[in-house]
Amino acid sequence: MTDKDLDQLKRSIGTPSDTRPLKTVDQSRTETTHTVVHGDMNGENRLFGGRLMEWIDEAAGIASRRHCGGSVTTACVDSLVFQNPAYLNEVVIVDAYVTYVGRTSLEVRVDSYVEDIQTGERKQINVAYLTEVHVDADERPTPIRYGLELATDEQKNEWSLAQIRKMIRRERQEQGI
Ligand SMILES: CC(C)(COP(=O)(O)OP(=O)(O)OC[C@H]1O[C@@H](n2cnc3c(N)ncnc32)[C@H](O)[C@@H]1OP(=O)(O)O)[C@@H](O)C(=O)NCCC(=O)NCCS
Repeated sequence: MTDKDLDQLKRSIGTPSDTRPLKTVDQSRTETTHTVVHGDMNGENRLFGGRLMEWIDEAAGIASRRHCGGSVTTACVDSLVFQNPAYLNEVVIVDAYVTYVGRTSLEVRVDSYVEDIQTGERKQINVAYLTEVHVDADERPTPIRYGLELATDEQKNEWSLAQIRKMIRRERQEQGI
């Protein structure tokens, strides 16, 4: 898909006309901070990818629960991209925020960084998108009571792209890939 095709697709999708009460992205935004300790390392002396995935899943779960005001379960993790390593004693920041809210599911983007504790500068090490489903006491999908207020162009852009990702996920599911 070319950039022009993507722009056209985003324009045709547009932003939501939600009748639900809205919550802002910041109301559920969740940032967690971790020090990389010996137990987090792999055999190559880098942060073990599975540990980072655990931190990502936890932060995404908290952001989703804050938005839904109830329980969620992780349905899907996609676009989990490891861009840079992290090493012993480094400080890792995991920043999760809601990008899209469907009927019973929502998408959360999670950016992970290594923070330079002297300068405060952050280097991105991972970006991930997770789909969480709001569930009732019987663990069945249940409607999310709140839509998402899109206050910035970046949030509107993420919403449009999230709908495209949802279509791709559905296609992959239908085709069993
Ligand atoms: C996630 C789960 C609750 C979905 O149940 P389901 O009966 O298949 O759900 P439905 O088909 O009614 O879909 C419900 C919503 O989830 C979304 N969904 C379901 N499966 C999905 C998948 N694989 N990827 C992305 N979204 C998915 C649907 O698009 C729908 O969203 P919408 O209401 O916003 O349009 C169920 O599959 C489950 O319990 N899975 C195990 C979850 C778990 O244990 N997670 C922890 C992993 S260790």
